[in-house]
Amino acid sequence: MTQDELKTRVAKAALEYVQAGTIIGVGTGSTANKFIDALATIKDSIRGTVASSEATAERLRAHGIPVLDLNDALAEVRQLSVYIDGADEFDGENNLTKGGGGALTREKIVACASAQFICIVDQSKQVEHLGAFPLPIEVIPMARAYVAGIARELGGDPVLREGFTTDNGNIILDVHGLRITEPDLLEERLNHVPGVVTCGIFSRFSHKGDVVLMGTPDGVERIEA
Ligand code: 5RP
Repeated sequence: MTQDELKTRVAKAALEYVQAGTIIGVGTGSTANKFIDALATIKDSIRGTVASSEATAERLRAHGIPVLDLNDALAEVRQLSVYIDGADEFDGENNLTKGGGGALTREKIVACASAQFICIVDQSKQVEHLGAFPLPIEVIPMARAYVAGIARELGGDPVLREGFTTDNGNIILDVHGLRITEPDLLEERLNHVPGVVTCGIFSRFSHKGDVVLMGTPDGVERIEA
């Protein structure tokens, strides 16, 4: 099976977590796109969606799936019922690295506003420790050099994502060379650096995966935190 087929398989499996009549959060990336395509088949059963990026909102609308502003959604419901999104890496405790597509901040907001985070990945995303995938950090542009200096102090090698601006008008530093053995401590440390909007670690301090659905050639494995 190709990686693309594994993504399709796991995206379809996530439909099981979509409750009728609720508002759900939808992630960003190629796996999330496959989930959106699957969601289109049951679109009339849900009240609406909140998108984690402009690209996701566009794809949802193209399928005729209602997209709500998060503030409007939270005026109607206390929490979104579920957030469904991919990841760049996940470890043995369902801590995640996200942000390969640059949507990490909105993804973290929508994940945290949801009762449950179902993370959908193919088996290539499973790691012992996060860090082989460069850690994305969304940074306010004037803080670029300052935050890069802190990332170096922490043992990383920050690289500016060239020609990329986030949906929030900021830049991304991709930090290479980190071996992340304590994701919660690093997430907390980085998110306290002035100029950092958020980093791409999703640990217990934000919203790690409550369930990781991992697509394999033998089927979909369900991994609970
Ligand atoms: C986007 C993300 C994505 O979830 C992550 O990059 C995985 O993408 P894909 O499903 O294309 O492998 O965090 O910001």
